[in-house]
Amino acid sequence: MVSFKILCFLLCFILAPPLSTVDSADKPSKPTTSPSLTSHAQSKTHPGEEYRTYIILLWPPTDPEASAMGMDEAAHCAWYESFLPTKLTDAGEPRLLRSYRFVFNGFAATLTEAELKMVAKKRGFLRSFPDRVRHLCTTYTPEFIGLSKGKGVWSDTNYGKGVIIGVIDSGINDQHPSLDDHDIMPPPMKWKGSCQGNIRCNNKLIGAKTFVAGDDQASDQNGHGTHTATTAAGNFVEYTSLHGLAPGTAAGVAPGAHLAVYKACQDLSCNDQAILHAMDAAIGDGVDVISVSISKRLSNIPYDHDPVAIGAFTAMWHGVLVVASAGNRGPNASSIANDTPWILTVGAGSVDRSFPAQVWLQNGDTVPGESLADRTASTSDEWFPLHYSNDPAQRYCNYPEIEGQFTGKIVVCDASSGQKRQRAIIENLLGDNDAEGVVLIDLEEHGYTTILQDYGPNVIQVPNATAGNLRNYSMSEGTKGMMVFRNETVLQAIPAPVVAHFSSRGPSLRSPGLIKPDILAPGLNILAGTLRADFSEAPAFQFRSGTSMATPHVSGVAALIRSRHPDWSAAAIKSAIMTTTTLERNDGGGYILDHHLKEEASGYARGAGLVNAKMAMDPGLIYDISASDYVSYLCTVFGEAPQQAISRIPSWRCSDLPQTSEAMLNYPSITVPLQPTPFTVVRTLTNVGPPELYAVTVFMPEPVTVTVFPRWLFFNNTGDRAAITLTVSGHTSNGQPFIEGNLMLSSLTHSVRNRIIAVVGLGGTHHEHGA
Ligand SMILES: *[C@@H]1O[C@H](CO)[C@@H](O)[C@H](O)[C@H]1NC(C)=O
Ligand SMILES: *[C@@H]1O[C@H](CO)[C@@H](O)[C@H](O)[C@H]1NC(C)=O
Ligand SMILES: *[C@@H]1O[C@H](CO)[C@@H](O)[C@H](O)[C@H]1NC(C)=O
Ligand SMILES: *[C@@H]1O[C@H](CO)[C@@H](O)[C@H](O)[C@H]1NC(C)=O
Ligand SMILES: *[C@@H]1O[C@H](CO)[C@@H](O)[C@H](O)[C@H]1NC(C)=O
Repeated sequence: MVSFKILCFLLCFILAPPLSTVDSADKPSKPTTSPSLTSHAQSKTHPGEEYRTYIILLWPPTDPEASAMGMDEAAHCAWYESFLPTKLTDAGEPRLLRSYRFVFNGFAATLTEAELKMVAKKRGFLRSFPDRVRHLCTTYTPEFIGLSKGKGVWSDTNYGKGVIIGVIDSGINDQHPSLDDHDIMPPPMKWKGSCQGNIRCNNKLIGAKTFVAGDDQASDQNGHGTHTATTAAGNFVEYTSLHGLAPGTAAGVAPGAHLAVYKACQDLSCNDQAILHAMDAAIGDGVDVISVSISKRLSNIPYDHDPVAIGAFTAMWHGVLVVASAGNRGPNASSIANDTPWILTVGAGSVDRSFPAQVWLQNGDTVPGESLADRTASTSDEWFPLHYSNDPAQRYCNYPEIEGQFTGKIVVCDASSGQKRQRAIIENLLGDNDAEGVVLIDLEEHGYTTILQDYGPNVIQVPNATAGNLRNYSMSEGTKGMMVFRNETVLQAIPAPVVAHFSSRGPSLRSPGLIKPDILAPGLNILAGTLRADFSEAPAFQFRSGTSMATPHVSGVAALIRSRHPDWSAAAIKSAIMTTTTLERNDGGGYILDHHLKEEASGYARGAGLVNAKMAMDPGLIYDISASDYVSYLCTVFGEAPQQAISRIPSWRCSDLPQTSEAMLNYPSITVPLQPTPFTVVRTLTNVGPPELYAVTVFMPEPVTVTVFPRWLFFNNTGDRAAITLTVSGHTSNGQPFIEGNLMLSSLTHSVRNRIIAVVGLGGTHHEHGA
């Protein structure tokens, strides 16, 4: 038995990472919805006989003494292996790739379809799904969300002292100055994590583990993980900037918090099994918040077939809030990912900071744009001939390398899609073709969302909408232009925030009765840590854009709340963040706009609004949701089997639980059908502030009528709970698909906003979803 245990231990925890050839077989370019094949697939050739990686979910052991959490790792391994036909595949490689303990009972293994059928017949088997590949969402922000050094929230929460943020991403550059641990205390006693391999940990970076196959180092190869981790909890670093732009002190949102890094991604692709294993480890290690800047391409698989939704449920059950990115597949409707109700889903918006640069035309017009170009290396104050070709073959400037073709000219180009291609085109123009400068007109569908790239000197990026007659003017012979690089970073740029075009939009296909995303955070042109560590050589900070960058902002805010309110549930922290947002844009002209600056963004784009760290610390009232509430919701909407697959708590039977429709889940947003028949929803509020009297008001456009009862609520004590009932009826005018409004609870010192959205064609009480 002893030797078997040792063998099993080796299998799971020493051999496991290098032997999963699965991850390396998944190139990002591959269609990612297809399950991954292992590299030794050739040893089985008939259909249905190929090896694949499957994640197998099991019921908890029936023996009460071997309760899921009580079994040690070796016992888990032995139990999991008892499901497999053999320990090794035909090619002699171990089948068991991952062993999960905290997220759920289950494992990842190499099996053929026929073998899987045999596994499925064994007692204890619950469900299986093929491993899928997910993607990192890449494409002065603390101040923008209400934080400033030496005062307010930061000093009240000691900058997030004592809280641990688990970041599941591409690893970490442990040399980065943002990970310095000055003024950071040792981790709390509950911390059980550790640092693997050569990663240098300290009181800031307290844990680093890798779950990527064939990689025993949690070090970051592409910079994404370092960027997100330093955004969430980077320590203060003086005098950061890129080419003198955005100068100042860099800091994460919770600069006093600890970071634990779980590497689950390589080359921007991340396998389900690696993410799950990372979540498993993070929960077991004792993190307070999990930040996941990873999203899946297709989000319409049911929750009970989505291992990350299941893993996040377990995190919630342990009081850990999972904050995850909405995805970068906007602005199409229903492009949202990570949309389960127990996840805080984050969309991306712009920041009120810009890096202006202009093209002056000799006819007197000015074309405003932005540029990350090094101001000291860029020319200006000189007129140069302009060149633009409307020829479809040339408007993207994909010119052959002809020495000196554009010497002394400013070349105007339409942006091509594909970042690598774009960079190569510009390098060619400024290199062999010897252009003086390049003006890049962004894709029309990007609106005003200019994702700035560091293309080098003399490159200006211009949104299509402000390009004006630049195209036409530059096409004519003899026209001249001048590139003007302002040597400044503009703050309080207006309007901000604006929802980024790429930020994935709702409604969720899996939960149409919940408004997703939940929240908007800065995700456009965000400066944070990169792979460089040495200031003298090259910038240690880099601009990146994506909902990946928005997510750690919110994770940091969640850490600050956790530091201030250690006893709050994950749902309470989420409610505090969602009911205290900023909905107005900074030019005083109204609500947050969509990327074309033409319309106000809907709740399906901007969520509850821009996260406001200051207000979220003291929300007054919260909409709490217990684990059993979520289970009732799962029962009512999805049924017994999916409920049990997700909750993994066999003692919970749907028949013992009350009905909780999607509309009745005590969510900090309200979705109702838009219909003439009155529809009633109830929300329960918990007072987390002092005794106070609240007025209850509803703001809803005309064709919709909402009555609310009671109109006043007096909370006599902290911790008091009280319910309000809303009855909604109405009809659409001019074919709008939905109508939005707000439910406000206002006291002398607090203002608690909840969104109401009335949707045409939304079923009455609940929706059936395919199993
Ligand atoms: C968005 O929708 C359009 C039109 O339906 C489609 O052509 C396009 O591929 C979609 N974009 C993404 C990112 O899915
Ligand atoms: C921009 O400002 C910096 C510092 O203020 C200065 O060193 C640099 O020469 C300026 N560059 C230009 C192009 O004016
Ligand atoms: C993009 O530019 C073209 C040419 O200037 C213009 O006709 C079109 O309206 C622009 N699109 C948007 C959305 O501004
Ligand atoms: C294009 O530019 C030419 C020359 O500058 C000008 O005469 C013409 O009116 C412009 N056309 C448009 C549509 O702006
Ligand atoms: C506060 O006390 C008053 C008077 O006893 C009572 O009517 C009210 O329901 C209490 N409020 C709550 C929220 O319990």
